[in-house]
Amino acid sequence: MEPGDALTEALRAHHPAAAATLSPLGQRVWFPRGVPAQAAEAAGCAVNATIGQITDGRGGALPLPQLEALAGPLPAKELFLYAAQGGRPDLRDAWADRLRPLGGRFSRPVVTCGLTHALSLCAELFAGPGTPVLLPYPAWGNYAFMFGVRQGAQVRRYPVLREDGGGLDLAALDAALQALPGPAVLVLNHPSNPIGYAPALEDAAAVVEVIRRAPHPLVVICDDAYAGMVWEPGLQVDSLFHALSALDPARVLAVKVDGATKELFFFGARIGFLTFGCEGPAARALEDKAMGLARASVSCAPSAPQAMILRALADPGLGAEQARLRGVIAGRYRALKAALAAHGVPFWPFNAAFFALVPVDGDPQAARRSLLAEGVGVVAVEPSDALRISYASLVEGDMDRLAAALAPRARRG
Ligand SMILES: Cc1ncc(COP(=O)(O)O)c(C=O)c1O
Repeated sequence: MEPGDALTEALRAHHPAAAATLSPLGQRVWFPRGVPAQAAEAAGCAVNATIGQITDGRGGALPLPQLEALAGPLPAKELFLYAAQGGRPDLRDAWADRLRPLGGRFSRPVVTCGLTHALSLCAELFAGPGTPVLLPYPAWGNYAFMFGVRQGAQVRRYPVLREDGGGLDLAALDAALQALPGPAVLVLNHPSNPIGYAPALEDAAAVVEVIRRAPHPLVVICDDAYAGMVWEPGLQVDSLFHALSALDPARVLAVKVDGATKELFFFGARIGFLTFGCEGPAARALEDKAMGLARASVSCAPSAPQAMILRALADPGLGAEQARLRGVIAGRYRALKAALAAHGVPFWPFNAAFFALVPVDGDPQAARRSLLAEGVGVVAVEPSDALRISYASLVEGDMDRLAAALAPRARRG
């Protein structure tokens, strides 16, 4: 039996939903015991002639002085040598420590090259040609690209919000799940891009119940990119991943995608985490498969940002500084809401993340281009006939100018 098939068999025994939802590639892949694995085994050897990198013969780095001069206080070894496949073990454990207080089952997080890479690994693991993949509507455009264009999956949509503006469209999600013909993938993105919406706590709890009743095995990917970025009281703050991971392993596999990009405001780090909602042999099998796919594409994640993030996570002042920056975004959120109201600009309900959607009359691309001519840059969300405002990247003093520019283009009534 090939190693990948043995892992799939382990999943069949320990997590039937994971086994039922693997793509053909997901079924056959495994982490090969090649150079990185053999080098890891030889890490304690006095004579370590395994990995293709220059060292001082004792495991230390020999960087070029031009680069070492830029390293700051971090040890050269942690910047200039390869990081472990799947991520530094101490960083993986530090990230797991953040998940533990919220409960549920979870694997050891696998470090990825940004959240995009984690999502792309999910697409490879669980979405083959024709796999039904339920995406939010509207959604971050890259989902359809990763699942539909790249993997050939069958993209289906569920509207996030009720048309009357009264919260999550739970009935539409339920209907979309009930209409599935077989095992499928569901993507949840709370708080969402591009709507900038986090559901009320009761709505979020109801989503778990709707998923529990799905007729076929389901992989539920929680894209928690904007975890904690919630600007009103009474809204869902904690990921649904934790509650979903406690559901029946014969029915649901929960997957968490998160990372440093937005949560630590470290956009250029390209460090994300992929965590499976299971433990024991099932967790080890899924980690092995994800690491195999990463090995075949980007290999290990960069060392320097992993070293930086590890130290930041250990700093007792981190939480307060994150809260301070979230406070800056919350101030921008309130300033934008006030400016839109002052100029009578309509908007989709928004209360979280970095974004607001403003519906426009006519072609949103034309509206976007005409705004460019006035020195105002926004993003056209074509399927929703709307413009996406990333208010997190504007200072409060710019909101009035933005709202005044949007006012003549906005769709009213
Ligand atoms: C909802 C959502 N998921 C994932 C990502 C990708 O994150 P990263 O830049 O770490 O690849 C983004 C980035 O904008 C996002 O908005």
